[in-house]
Amino acid sequence: MKRAHLVEHMVSFKAFRTASELRSGVRNMLIGIMADTHDKLTSIDEAVAQLNQRKVELVLHAGDFIAPFVVPRFKPLTAKLIGVYGNNDAEREVLKKNFSELNAQIRGRFAEVNIGKMKIAMTHGDEEELVRSLIDIETYDLVVYGHTHEVKTYRKGPTLVVNPGETCGYLTGESTIALFNSETLDVEILPL
Ligand code: NI
Repeated sequence: MKRAHLVEHMVSFKAFRTASELRSGVRNMLIGIMADTHDKLTSIDEAVAQLNQRKVELVLHAGDFIAPFVVPRFKPLTAKLIGVYGNNDAEREVLKKNFSELNAQIRGRFAEVNIGKMKIAMTHGDEEELVRSLIDIETYDLVVYGHTHEVKTYRKGPTLVVNPGETCGYLTGESTIALFNSETLDVEILPL
């Protein structure tokens, strides 16, 4: 039943996609999307293993890492990681510094990531007005957020919106991350 729920997300998104929406000038790359790891070390290890196995080139983390002691668990990740703070990330400067020693960068509460012509916005999601505004402004090809711990993928106008669900699995019992293909614009939800 849980699997069926996840598959539904994938199918409903694909129904929105048409060939004309494919972006030219964007190199085909896989981007991992994750959020709300909440100190769950085993889930982080599993996520990193799957992201490496799928040869993801970039990982976007939408916040709520929680304590800085989780940072070394991201060390085996081969992709570059870009993250933003969540509302539960307290020791922000330590998190930022520790991640900067890996192939990783914590940007603040908001990150804009440009891949060729593709514009991506990421924020944790506790500031609901900000998320709504980032979607409604129709500037971004992809808006990434987390915080609700629930998988959500949909298109609004020119913008694809992705919440990868919770890596930790604490609230829903489902640990999930997402894979985004920059060329086909497909989003795949991966259960851990
Ligand atoms: Ni949160």
